[in-house]
Amino acid sequence: MSHHDDDSISNESSNPSFSDVLAVAHSRRQLLAGGIGGAAAFFMSDSMLAAPERQTHWQTRHQLVGFRPVPLAGGGGNTPRISADYQYEVIIPWGAPIAPGSTDTIGIGHDGMWFLPLNNRSSHGLLVINHEYGDNIVVLGKNTPSNLNDVRISQYAHGLSVIEIMRQGRNGKWITNASNYARRIHVNSPVTFSGPAANSPLLSNAAGNAPLGTVNNCANGNTPWSTYLTCEENFNGYFGATAPWTANEAQRRYGMAAGSGYGWHLFDARFNLSNPDYANESNRFGWIVELDPLNPLAPPVKRTALGRMKHEGIAIVEGRGGRIVGYMGDDERFEYIYKFVSDDNWRAMRAQGKSPLDHGKLYVARFKDDGTGQWLELTISNPALAARFADQATILVNTRLAADVLGATPMDRPEWTTVGPNGLVYCTLTNNTRREVANGANPQVPNPDGHIIRWLDSDDHLGLTFEWDIFALASATHGTEESFASPDGLMADPDGRLFIETDGLQRDGLNDQLLVADINTGEIRRLFEGVAGAEVTGITMTPDRRTLFCNLQHPNPDTSVPRDATVVITRRDGGIVGS
Ligand code: FEO
Ligand code: CA
Ligand code: CA
Ligand code: CA
Repeated sequence: MSHHDDDSISNESSNPSFSDVLAVAHSRRQLLAGGIGGAAAFFMSDSMLAAPERQTHWQTRHQLVGFRPVPLAGGGGNTPRISADYQYEVIIPWGAPIAPGSTDTIGIGHDGMWFLPLNNRSSHGLLVINHEYGDNIVVLGKNTPSNLNDVRISQYAHGLSVIEIMRQGRNGKWITNASNYARRIHVNSPVTFSGPAANSPLLSNAAGNAPLGTVNNCANGNTPWSTYLTCEENFNGYFGATAPWTANEAQRRYGMAAGSGYGWHLFDARFNLSNPDYANESNRFGWIVELDPLNPLAPPVKRTALGRMKHEGIAIVEGRGGRIVGYMGDDERFEYIYKFVSDDNWRAMRAQGKSPLDHGKLYVARFKDDGTGQWLELTISNPALAARFADQATILVNTRLAADVLGATPMDRPEWTTVGPNGLVYCTLTNNTRREVANGANPQVPNPDGHIIRWLDSDDHLGLTFEWDIFALASATHGTEESFASPDGLMADPDGRLFIETDGLQRDGLNDQLLVADINTGEIRRLFEGVAGAEVTGITMTPDRRTLFCNLQHPNPDTSVPRDATVVITRRDGGIVGS
Protein backbone atom coordinates (compact mmCIF):
# COMPACT_ATOMS: atom_id res chain seq x y z
CA MET A 1 0.00 0.00 0.00
CA SER A 2 2.94 2.34 0.23
CA HIS A 3 6.30 2.68 -1.39
CA HIS A 4 7.78 1.28 1.81
CA ASP A 5 6.89 -2.22 0.65
CA ASP A 6 9.86 -1.92 -1.65
CA ASP A 7 12.31 -0.76 0.95
CA SER A 8 14.95 -3.12 2.21
CA ILE A 9 14.90 -2.35 5.90
CA SER A 10 16.71 -5.05 7.79
CA ASN A 11 14.17 -6.02 10.36
CA GLU A 12 15.98 -8.67 12.37
CA SER A 13 12.89 -9.85 14.20
CA SER A 14 9.51 -11.21 13.26
CA ASN A 15 7.84 -7.95 14.28
CA PRO A 16 5.31 -6.56 11.86
CA SER A 17 6.81 -3.96 9.56
CA PHE A 18 5.64 -0.36 9.53
CA SER A 19 3.58 -0.98 6.40
CA ASP A 20 2.01 -4.06 8.02
CA VAL A 21 0.96 -1.94 10.98
CA LEU A 22 -0.38 0.81 8.80
CA ALA A 23 -2.22 -1.64 6.56
CA VAL A 24 -4.62 -2.18 9.44
CA ALA A 25 -4.61 1.45 10.37
CA HIS A 26 -5.74 3.33 7.29
CA SER A 27 -5.70 6.97 7.98
CA ARG A 28 -8.75 8.74 6.66
CA ARG A 29 -6.70 11.80 6.11
CA GLN A 30 -4.84 12.92 3.08
CA LEU A 31 -2.43 15.25 4.71
CA LEU A 32 0.18 17.12 2.83
CA ALA A 33 -1.59 16.83 -0.49
CA GLY A 34 1.00 17.06 -3.19
CA GLY A 35 3.51 15.24 -1.04
CA ILE A 36 6.28 16.51 1.13
CA GLY A 37 9.10 14.16 1.97
CA GLY A 38 8.00 10.58 2.48
CA ALA A 39 4.96 11.39 4.53
CA ALA A 40 2.14 11.86 2.07
CA ALA A 41 2.17 8.38 0.61
CA PHE A 42 1.03 6.79 3.87
CA PHE A 43 -2.32 8.48 4.13
CA MET A 44 -5.49 7.01 2.70
CA SER A 45 -8.93 8.53 2.77
CA ASP A 46 -12.20 6.62 3.32
CA SER A 47 -12.97 6.86 -0.37
CA MET A 48 -9.78 4.97 -1.15
CA LEU A 49 -10.90 1.96 0.86
CA ALA A 50 -13.04 -0.90 -0.45
CA ALA A 51 -16.60 -0.95 0.90
CA PRO A 52 -16.17 -3.76 3.46
CA GLU A 53 -13.03 -2.10 4.76
CA ARG A 54 -14.89 1.16 5.00
CA GLN A 55 -17.52 -0.51 7.16
CA THR A 56 -14.92 -1.96 9.55
CA HIS A 57 -13.15 1.33 9.57
CA TRP A 58 -16.32 3.14 10.62
CA GLN A 59 -17.16 0.62 13.32
CA THR A 60 -13.69 0.69 14.81
CA ARG A 61 -13.73 4.41 14.90
CA HIS A 62 -17.02 4.60 16.70
CA GLN A 63 -16.19 1.87 19.17
CA LEU A 64 -12.92 3.37 20.23
CA VAL A 65 -13.71 7.08 20.55
CA GLY A 66 -17.47 7.34 20.88
CA PHE A 67 -18.11 10.29 23.19
CA ARG A 68 -19.91 13.45 22.17
CA PRO A 69 -17.14 15.98 21.55
CA VAL A 70 -16.96 19.45 23.03
CA PRO A 71 -18.07 21.62 20.11
CA LEU A 72 -15.69 24.01 18.42
CA ALA A 73 -18.09 26.93 18.88
CA GLY A 74 -18.19 28.63 22.25
CA GLY A 75 -14.59 28.08 23.31
CA GLY A 76 -12.09 30.41 24.94
CA GLY A 77 -13.90 30.99 28.23
CA ASN A 78 -12.94 31.13 31.90
CA THR A 79 -14.68 27.88 32.85
CA PRO A 80 -13.63 24.45 31.57
CA ARG A 81 -15.86 22.67 29.05
CA ILE A 82 -16.17 18.91 28.95
CA SER A 83 -17.96 16.37 26.74
CA ALA A 84 -21.65 15.94 27.59
CA ASP A 85 -20.82 12.31 28.42
CA TYR A 86 -18.23 13.30 31.01
CA GLN A 87 -17.79 15.19 34.28
CA TYR A 88 -14.83 16.75 36.08
CA GLU A 89 -13.70 17.97 39.45
CA VAL A 90 -10.73 20.16 40.39
CA ILE A 91 -8.39 19.04 43.19
CA ILE A 92 -5.04 19.84 44.86
CA PRO A 93 -4.42 23.42 43.76
CA TRP A 94 -1.06 25.06 44.45
CA GLY A 95 -0.76 25.75 48.20
CA ALA A 96 -3.11 22.99 49.40
CA PRO A 97 -1.65 20.79 52.20
CA ILE A 98 -0.09 17.55 50.91
CA ALA A 99 -2.00 15.72 53.66
CA PRO A 100 -4.63 16.85 56.17
CA GLY A 101 -2.93 19.11 58.74
CA SER A 102 0.46 19.02 57.01
CA THR A 103 2.46 22.23 56.81
CA ASP A 104 3.96 21.00 53.53
CA THR A 105 2.02 22.26 50.55
CA ILE A 106 1.46 21.35 46.90
CA GLY A 107 3.84 23.15 44.56
CA ILE A 108 2.90 25.22 41.51
CA GLY A 109 3.06 24.53 37.77
CA HIS A 110 1.52 21.04 37.87
CA ASP A 111 2.81 19.05 34.92
CA GLY A 112 3.69 15.38 34.36
CA MET A 113 2.24 13.02 36.95
CA TRP A 114 1.59 9.39 37.74
CA PHE A 115 -1.09 7.49 39.64
CA LEU A 116 0.51 4.55 41.46
CA PRO A 117 -2.27 2.33 42.84
CA LEU A 118 -2.06 1.02 46.38
CA ASN A 119 -3.16 -2.61 46.67
CA ASN A 120 -3.92 -2.48 42.95
CA ARG A 121 -7.00 -0.36 43.58
CA SER A 122 -8.37 2.23 41.20
CA SER A 123 -9.92 4.28 43.99
CA HIS A 124 -6.84 4.66 46.18
CA GLY A 125 -3.22 5.39 45.34
CA LEU A 126 -0.29 7.73 45.30
CA LEU A 127 -0.22 10.66 42.94
CA VAL A 128 3.25 11.91 42.05
CA ILE A 129 3.17 15.36 40.46
CA ASN A 130 5.78 17.55 38.80
CA HIS A 131 5.86 21.27 39.60
CA GLU A 132 7.44 22.72 36.52
CA TYR A 133 7.04 26.40 36.68
CA GLY A 134 5.93 29.30 38.88
CA ASP A 135 5.97 32.92 37.91
CA ASN A 136 7.51 35.18 40.59
CA ILE A 137 4.55 37.51 40.26
CA VAL A 138 2.22 34.67 41.22
CA VAL A 139 4.41 32.98 43.85
CA LEU A 140 5.96 36.11 45.42
CA GLY A 141 3.64 38.87 44.30
CA LYS A 142 6.59 40.66 42.68
CA ASN A 143 8.87 40.17 39.71
CA THR A 144 12.17 39.93 41.58
CA PRO A 145 12.99 38.34 44.94
CA SER A 146 14.15 40.85 47.58
CA ASN A 147 16.12 38.43 49.76
CA LEU A 148 17.09 34.79 50.24
CA ASN A 149 13.80 34.05 51.96
CA ASP A 150 11.92 35.05 48.80
CA VAL A 151 14.21 32.78 46.78
CA ARG A 152 13.50 29.88 49.13
CA ILE A 153 9.74 30.40 48.74
CA SER A 154 10.09 30.30 44.96
CA GLN A 155 12.36 27.24 45.16
CA TYR A 156 9.89 25.44 47.41
CA ALA A 157 7.11 25.96 44.85
CA HIS A 158 9.15 23.88 42.37
CA GLY A 159 9.95 20.16 42.35
CA LEU A 160 7.64 17.25 43.09
CA SER A 161 4.76 16.34 45.36
CA VAL A 162 3.86 12.83 46.42
CA ILE A 163 0.39 12.57 47.92
CA GLU A 164 -1.97 9.76 48.81
CA ILE A 165 -5.45 10.16 47.38
CA MET A 166 -8.66 8.21 47.71
CA ARG A 167 -12.10 8.33 46.20
CA GLN A 168 -14.88 8.53 48.79
CA GLY A 169 -17.59 6.05 47.81
CA ARG A 170 -18.30 4.79 44.33
CA ASN A 171 -18.92 8.14 42.68
CA GLY A 172 -17.51 10.32 45.40
CA LYS A 173 -14.95 13.08 45.44
CA TRP A 174 -11.24 12.48 45.59
CA ILE A 175 -9.62 13.48 48.87
CA THR A 176 -6.03 13.69 50.12
CA ASN A 177 -5.24 11.19 52.87
CA ALA A 178 -2.90 11.28 55.82
CA SER A 179 0.04 9.23 54.54
CA ASN A 180 3.52 7.99 55.34
CA TYR A 181 4.29 8.43 51.63
CA ALA A 182 3.32 12.12 51.37
CA ARG A 183 6.40 14.24 50.74
CA ARG A 184 7.70 17.29 48.95
CA ILE A 185 10.90 17.35 46.96
CA HIS A 186 12.04 20.81 45.99
CA VAL A 187 15.11 22.75 44.92
CA ASN A 188 16.88 22.26 48.27
CA SER A 189 16.10 18.57 48.81
CA PRO A 190 19.05 16.14 48.81
CA VAL A 191 19.54 14.21 45.56
CA THR A 192 22.16 11.76 44.33
CA PHE A 193 23.80 11.03 40.99
CA SER A 194 24.18 7.63 39.38
CA GLY A 195 25.43 6.20 36.09
CA PRO A 196 28.55 6.90 34.00
CA ALA A 197 28.82 10.65 34.78
CA ALA A 198 28.05 10.40 38.51
CA ASN A 199 31.65 10.86 39.66
CA SER A 200 32.73 13.18 36.88
CA PRO A 201 34.54 16.37 37.94
CA LEU A 202 32.07 18.11 35.62
CA LEU A 203 29.43 17.48 38.30
CA SER A 204 31.35 18.84 41.26
CA ASN A 205 32.14 22.37 42.37
CA ALA A 206 35.08 24.02 44.10
CA ALA A 207 32.59 24.81 46.88
CA GLY A 208 32.28 21.08 47.54
CA ASN A 209 28.52 21.40 47.95
CA ALA A 210 26.42 18.25 47.95
CA PRO A 211 23.91 17.94 45.11
CA LEU A 212 20.52 19.40 45.92
CA GLY A 213 17.23 19.65 44.17
CA THR A 214 15.45 19.32 40.88
CA VAL A 215 13.99 22.08 38.71
CA ASN A 216 11.59 22.62 35.83
CA ASN A 217 10.11 19.17 36.22
CA CYS A 218 8.19 18.87 33.00
CA ALA A 219 6.87 15.53 31.80
CA ASN A 220 7.51 12.11 33.23
CA GLY A 221 7.72 8.41 32.78
CA ASN A 222 7.50 5.41 35.01
CA THR A 223 9.34 2.12 35.17
CA PRO A 224 8.12 -1.51 35.34
CA TRP A 225 9.64 -1.59 38.85
CA SER A 226 7.16 1.08 39.99
CA THR A 227 9.36 4.13 40.16
CA TYR A 228 8.67 7.58 38.78
CA LEU A 229 10.87 9.45 36.32
CA THR A 230 10.75 13.24 36.38
CA CYS A 231 12.36 15.20 33.57
CA GLU A 232 14.28 18.47 34.07
CA GLU A 233 13.52 20.78 31.16
CA ASN A 234 14.38 24.49 31.03
CA PHE A 235 16.96 24.47 33.83
CA ASN A 236 18.96 27.27 32.25
CA GLY A 237 16.28 29.79 33.22
CA TYR A 238 17.12 29.49 36.92
CA PHE A 239 20.76 30.55 36.53
CA GLY A 240 22.07 34.08 36.14
CA ALA A 241 25.22 36.12 36.74
CA THR A 242 25.84 39.01 39.12
CA ALA A 243 29.22 39.93 37.58
CA PRO A 244 30.67 39.89 34.08
CA TRP A 245 30.61 36.30 32.87
CA THR A 246 30.99 34.57 29.51
CA ALA A 247 29.33 31.28 28.70
CA ASN A 248 31.61 28.50 27.46
CA GLU A 249 30.60 26.48 24.40
CA ALA A 250 28.71 23.87 26.41
CA GLN A 251 26.84 26.49 28.42
CA ARG A 252 25.88 28.33 25.24
CA ARG A 253 24.56 25.09 23.80
CA TYR A 254 22.14 24.85 26.73
CA GLY A 255 21.12 28.50 26.57
CA MET A 256 22.83 29.62 29.78
CA ALA A 257 22.62 33.42 30.00
CA ALA A 258 23.51 36.16 32.47
CA GLY A 259 19.93 37.27 32.99
CA SER A 260 17.35 35.12 34.77
CA GLY A 261 13.68 35.87 35.24
CA TYR A 262 13.66 34.08 38.60
CA GLY A 263 16.46 36.11 40.17
CA TRP A 264 17.59 33.20 42.39
CA HIS A 265 21.23 33.98 41.55
CA LEU A 266 20.93 37.35 43.28
CA PHE A 267 20.80 35.68 46.72
CA ASP A 268 21.68 32.01 46.24
CA ALA A 269 25.31 31.53 45.10
CA ARG A 270 24.52 28.10 43.71
CA PHE A 271 22.62 29.69 40.84
CA ASN A 272 25.16 32.46 40.22
CA LEU A 273 27.10 31.65 37.06
CA SER A 274 29.74 34.26 37.83
CA ASN A 275 30.63 32.67 41.19
CA PRO A 276 33.65 30.42 40.43
CA ASP A 277 32.95 28.26 43.50
CA TYR A 278 29.79 26.98 41.75
CA ALA A 279 31.07 26.88 38.18
CA ASN A 280 29.63 23.41 37.51
CA GLU A 281 26.34 23.76 39.37
CA SER A 282 24.35 24.10 36.14
CA ASN A 283 25.74 20.74 34.96
CA ARG A 284 23.78 19.17 37.80
CA PHE A 285 20.50 19.97 36.05
CA GLY A 286 18.98 18.79 32.79
CA TRP A 287 18.73 15.15 33.85
CA ILE A 288 16.07 12.51 34.25
CA VAL A 289 15.53 11.86 37.92
CA GLU A 290 14.18 8.61 39.38
CA LEU A 291 12.00 8.66 42.48
CA ASP A 292 10.71 5.66 44.39
CA PRO A 293 7.39 6.89 45.78
CA LEU A 294 7.04 3.78 47.97
CA ASN A 295 10.33 4.52 49.75
CA PRO A 296 9.79 7.93 51.31
CA LEU A 297 13.28 8.09 52.81
CA ALA A 298 15.13 7.44 49.53
CA PRO A 299 16.46 10.57 47.81
CA PRO A 300 15.76 11.06 44.11
CA VAL A 301 18.51 9.73 41.81
CA LYS A 302 19.69 11.61 38.72
CA ARG A 303 20.30 8.98 36.04
CA THR A 304 23.18 10.30 33.94
CA ALA A 305 23.14 7.48 31.38
CA LEU A 306 19.97 9.05 29.96
CA GLY A 307 21.85 12.16 28.88
CA ARG A 308 21.61 15.84 29.68
CA MET A 309 19.27 18.04 27.71
CA LYS A 310 16.06 20.00 28.19
CA HIS A 311 14.31 16.75 28.93
CA GLU A 312 10.61 16.91 28.16
CA GLY A 313 9.61 13.38 29.14
CA ILE A 314 10.41 9.71 28.74
CA ALA A 315 8.27 6.83 27.45
CA ILE A 316 9.55 3.55 28.84
CA VAL A 317 8.81 0.30 27.03
CA GLU A 318 10.12 -3.23 27.40
CA GLY A 319 12.00 -4.16 24.24
CA ARG A 320 13.19 -7.53 23.01
CA GLY A 321 14.56 -9.72 25.77
CA GLY A 322 13.13 -7.52 28.52
CA ARG A 323 15.51 -4.67 27.87
CA ILE A 324 14.39 -1.23 28.97
CA VAL A 325 13.94 1.25 26.15
CA GLY A 326 13.21 4.93 26.82
CA TYR A 327 12.15 7.44 24.16
CA MET A 328 12.87 11.08 24.99
CA GLY A 329 12.38 14.52 23.49
CA ASP A 330 14.65 17.53 24.00
CA ASP A 331 12.20 20.42 23.84
CA GLU A 332 13.71 23.37 22.11
CA ARG A 333 13.59 24.52 18.52
CA PHE A 334 15.82 22.37 16.32
CA GLU A 335 16.65 19.88 19.07
CA TYR A 336 16.61 16.12 18.81
CA ILE A 337 14.80 12.91 19.74
CA TYR A 338 16.74 10.31 21.75
CA LYS A 339 16.40 6.74 22.90
CA PHE A 340 18.10 4.76 25.64
CA VAL A 341 18.47 0.97 25.64
CA SER A 342 19.53 -0.94 28.75
CA ASP A 343 22.39 -3.42 28.41
CA ASP A 344 20.37 -6.39 29.59
CA ASN A 345 17.01 -7.71 30.75
CA TRP A 346 15.77 -5.35 33.45
CA ARG A 347 14.82 -8.11 35.89
CA ALA A 348 18.25 -9.73 35.58
CA MET A 349 19.97 -6.40 36.09
CA ARG A 350 17.95 -5.54 39.15
CA ALA A 351 18.55 -9.02 40.57
CA GLN A 352 22.27 -8.19 40.32
CA GLY A 353 21.72 -4.90 42.13
CA LYS A 354 22.17 -2.82 39.00
CA SER A 355 19.81 -0.16 37.77
CA PRO A 356 18.79 -0.75 34.14
CA LEU A 357 18.88 3.06 33.83
CA ASP A 358 22.60 3.19 34.71
CA HIS A 359 23.92 0.68 32.18
CA GLY A 360 22.94 1.08 28.56
CA LYS A 361 23.40 3.03 25.37
CA LEU A 362 22.03 6.39 24.39
CA TYR A 363 21.11 7.13 20.76
CA VAL A 364 19.93 10.16 18.84
CA ALA A 365 17.59 10.08 15.85
CA ARG A 366 18.22 10.93 12.24
CA PHE A 367 15.02 11.11 10.18
CA LYS A 368 15.71 10.69 6.48
CA ASP A 369 13.37 12.24 3.95
CA ASP A 370 12.53 8.83 2.46
CA GLY A 371 10.55 7.76 5.54
CA THR A 372 13.34 5.75 7.13
CA GLY A 373 15.61 6.70 9.97
CA GLN A 374 18.63 5.73 12.02
CA TRP A 375 19.60 5.74 15.67
CA LEU A 376 23.10 7.14 16.11
CA GLU A 377 25.11 5.87 19.07
CA LEU A 378 26.23 8.45 21.65
CA THR A 379 29.11 6.49 23.16
CA ILE A 380 32.82 6.96 23.48
CA SER A 381 33.32 3.85 21.33
CA ASN A 382 31.92 5.84 18.43
CA PRO A 383 35.10 7.17 16.72
CA ALA A 384 33.43 10.44 15.74
CA LEU A 385 32.84 11.16 19.42
CA ALA A 386 36.11 9.74 20.76
CA ALA A 387 37.91 12.30 18.61
CA ARG A 388 36.14 15.13 20.35
CA PHE A 389 35.22 14.09 23.92
CA ALA A 390 37.44 12.83 26.75
CA ASP A 391 35.16 10.10 28.06
CA GLN A 392 31.58 8.85 28.30
CA ALA A 393 30.83 11.21 31.19
CA THR A 394 31.78 14.22 29.07
CA ILE A 395 29.53 12.99 26.26
CA LEU A 396 26.61 12.59 28.66
CA VAL A 397 27.05 15.99 30.33
CA ASN A 398 27.26 17.54 26.85
CA THR A 399 24.68 15.36 25.12
CA ARG A 400 23.57 18.12 22.76
CA LEU A 401 27.12 18.82 21.55
CA ALA A 402 27.70 15.12 20.97
CA ALA A 403 24.45 14.76 19.03
CA ASP A 404 25.48 17.71 16.86
CA VAL A 405 28.64 15.86 15.84
CA LEU A 406 26.63 12.85 14.64
CA GLY A 407 24.28 14.81 12.39
CA ALA A 408 20.99 14.19 14.18
CA THR A 409 17.84 15.70 12.67
CA PRO A 410 16.78 19.08 14.10
CA MET A 411 13.12 18.78 15.03
CA ASP A 412 10.26 21.22 15.73
CA ARG A 413 10.50 21.06 19.55
CA PRO A 414 10.12 17.39 20.56
CA GLU A 415 7.80 17.17 23.55
CA TRP A 416 6.11 13.98 24.82
CA THR A 417 6.59 10.49 23.48
CA THR A 418 4.33 7.48 23.96
CA VAL A 419 4.23 3.92 22.63
CA GLY A 420 0.96 2.63 21.17
CA PRO A 421 -0.39 -0.92 21.38
CA ASN A 422 0.62 -1.25 17.71
CA GLY A 423 4.27 -0.84 18.73
CA LEU A 424 4.58 2.55 17.07
CA VAL A 425 6.19 5.40 18.98
CA TYR A 426 4.36 8.74 18.80
CA CYS A 427 6.00 12.10 19.52
CA THR A 428 4.56 15.59 19.63
CA LEU A 429 6.51 18.29 17.80
CA THR A 430 4.80 21.22 19.38
CA ASN A 431 5.71 24.06 16.97
CA ASN A 432 8.63 25.95 15.53
CA THR A 433 8.00 29.50 14.45
CA ARG A 434 11.63 29.87 13.38
CA ARG A 435 11.90 27.02 10.94
CA GLU A 436 13.12 28.28 7.58
CA VAL A 437 14.32 25.04 5.99
CA ALA A 438 12.02 22.02 5.83
CA ASN A 439 13.03 18.40 6.16
CA GLY A 440 10.77 15.39 5.61
CA ALA A 441 10.01 14.96 9.30
CA ASN A 442 9.44 18.69 9.82
CA PRO A 443 7.74 19.70 6.59
CA GLN A 444 6.19 23.06 7.49
CA VAL A 445 8.02 26.38 7.12
CA PRO A 446 7.44 27.94 9.55
CA ASN A 447 5.50 25.57 11.80
CA PRO A 448 3.45 27.63 14.28
CA ASP A 449 0.94 24.84 15.03
CA GLY A 450 3.03 21.67 15.25
CA HIS A 451 2.51 18.04 14.33
CA ILE A 452 2.70 14.50 15.66
CA ILE A 453 5.23 12.11 14.20
CA ARG A 454 5.26 8.33 14.62
CA TRP A 455 7.80 5.62 13.93
CA LEU A 456 8.35 1.89 14.20
CA ASP A 457 11.73 0.76 15.46
CA SER A 458 13.20 -2.42 14.04
CA ASP A 459 14.00 -5.41 16.23
CA ASP A 460 11.32 -4.78 18.86
CA HIS A 461 12.67 -1.36 19.86
CA LEU A 462 16.33 -2.45 19.93
CA GLY A 463 17.21 -1.88 16.28
CA LEU A 464 19.20 0.99 14.84
CA THR A 465 16.75 1.64 12.02
CA PHE A 466 13.14 2.74 11.91
CA GLU A 467 10.39 3.82 9.56
CA TRP A 468 8.36 6.94 10.21
CA ASP A 469 5.55 9.12 8.98
CA ILE A 470 3.43 12.01 10.20
CA PHE A 471 0.34 11.02 12.18
CA ALA A 472 -1.31 14.44 12.27
CA LEU A 473 -0.50 17.92 11.10
CA ALA A 474 -2.27 20.39 13.39
CA SER A 475 -2.81 23.06 10.74
CA ALA A 476 -4.88 20.57 8.71
CA THR A 477 -7.50 20.54 11.51
CA HIS A 478 -8.13 24.26 11.68
CA GLY A 479 -11.64 25.40 10.89
CA THR A 480 -12.92 21.87 11.61
CA GLU A 481 -14.39 20.30 14.74
CA GLU A 482 -11.02 18.60 15.25
CA SER A 483 -9.18 21.91 15.56
CA PHE A 484 -6.06 21.82 17.70
CA ALA A 485 -2.57 23.33 17.72
CA SER A 486 0.71 22.96 19.63
CA PRO A 487 0.32 19.33 20.71
CA ASP A 488 2.39 18.61 23.82
CA GLY A 489 1.19 15.99 26.36
CA LEU A 490 0.64 12.58 24.77
CA MET A 491 -0.49 9.19 26.06
CA ALA A 492 -1.58 6.08 24.18
CA ASP A 493 -3.92 3.67 25.94
CA PRO A 494 -3.85 -0.13 25.42
CA ASP A 495 -6.89 0.00 23.09
CA GLY A 496 -5.34 2.46 20.66
CA ARG A 497 -6.62 5.80 21.86
CA LEU A 498 -4.14 8.63 21.75
CA PHE A 499 -4.73 11.37 24.32
CA ILE A 500 -3.39 14.70 23.06
CA GLU A 501 -2.91 17.75 25.28
CA THR A 502 -2.10 21.18 23.93
CA ASP A 503 0.12 24.03 25.11
CA GLY A 504 0.06 27.13 22.97
CA LEU A 505 -2.07 29.36 20.83
CA GLN A 506 -5.13 27.40 19.72
CA ARG A 507 -6.99 28.40 16.57
CA ASP A 508 -10.73 28.89 16.14
CA GLY A 509 -11.09 30.70 19.48
CA LEU A 510 -10.25 27.73 21.70
CA ASN A 511 -8.32 27.48 24.95
CA ASP A 512 -5.79 24.68 25.41
CA GLN A 513 -7.51 21.32 25.38
CA LEU A 514 -7.44 17.55 25.78
CA LEU A 515 -8.39 15.55 22.69
CA VAL A 516 -8.61 11.84 21.97
CA ALA A 517 -7.49 10.39 18.64
CA ASP A 518 -8.19 6.95 17.27
CA ILE A 519 -4.76 5.61 16.39
CA ASN A 520 -6.22 3.51 13.56
CA THR A 521 -8.43 6.03 11.83
CA GLY A 522 -6.82 9.30 12.81
CA GLU A 523 -10.16 10.72 13.95
CA ILE A 524 -9.80 13.27 16.74
CA ARG A 525 -12.43 14.35 19.28
CA ARG A 526 -12.27 17.11 21.86
CA LEU A 527 -12.85 15.71 25.36
CA PHE A 528 -12.06 18.76 27.48
CA GLU A 529 -11.24 22.42 27.03
CA GLY A 530 -9.35 24.25 29.79
CA VAL A 531 -9.56 27.86 30.83
CA ALA A 532 -8.01 31.02 29.47
CA GLY A 533 -4.26 31.23 30.02
CA ALA A 534 -3.80 27.59 31.05
CA GLU A 535 -2.03 24.81 29.24
CA VAL A 536 -3.49 21.33 29.70
CA THR A 537 -0.68 19.00 30.69
CA GLY A 538 0.22 15.90 32.68
CA ILE A 539 -1.87 12.80 32.22
CA THR A 540 -2.34 9.57 34.11
CA MET A 541 -5.09 7.05 34.70
CA THR A 542 -6.22 4.60 37.32
CA PRO A 543 -5.58 0.92 36.41
CA ASP A 544 -9.26 0.41 35.47
CA ARG A 545 -9.00 3.48 33.17
CA ARG A 546 -12.26 4.84 34.64
CA THR A 547 -10.52 7.92 36.08
CA LEU A 548 -8.16 10.25 34.26
CA PHE A 549 -6.08 12.96 35.91
CA CYS A 550 -4.71 15.96 34.03
CA ASN A 551 -3.54 19.42 35.02
CA LEU A 552 -4.28 23.04 34.30
CA GLN A 553 -1.00 24.94 34.46
CA HIS A 554 -0.81 28.74 34.80
CA PRO A 555 -4.54 29.59 34.38
CA ASN A 556 -5.40 33.28 34.28
CA PRO A 557 -6.30 34.59 37.76
CA ASP A 558 -9.91 35.42 36.83
CA THR A 559 -10.94 31.89 35.81
CA SER A 560 -13.05 29.35 37.71
CA VAL A 561 -9.93 27.29 38.44
CA PRO A 562 -8.04 28.05 41.65
CA ARG A 563 -4.54 28.50 40.26
CA ASP A 564 -2.56 25.54 38.98
CA ALA A 565 -4.53 22.42 39.85
CA THR A 566 -5.37 18.85 38.89
CA VAL A 567 -8.56 17.96 37.02
CA VAL A 568 -10.18 14.56 37.58
CA ILE A 569 -12.17 13.35 34.56
CA THR A 570 -14.70 10.49 34.58
CA ARG A 571 -17.40 9.24 32.23
CA ARG A 572 -20.90 9.82 33.56
CA ASP A 573 -21.74 6.16 32.93
CA GLY A 574 -18.53 4.97 34.63
CA GLY A 575 -17.00 3.76 31.37
CA ILE A 576 -13.41 3.85 30.19
CA VAL A 577 -12.16 7.39 29.79
CA GLY A 578 -11.69 8.28 26.14
CA SER A 579 -14.44 5.93 24.97
FE1 FEO B 1 7.60 21.72 29.82
FE2 FEO B 1 8.23 21.40 26.72
O1 FEO B 1 7.06 21.58 28.08
CA1 CA C 1 4.60 24.55 30.96
CA1 CA D 1 5.23 20.26 27.85
CA1 CA E 1 4.94 23.02 25.60
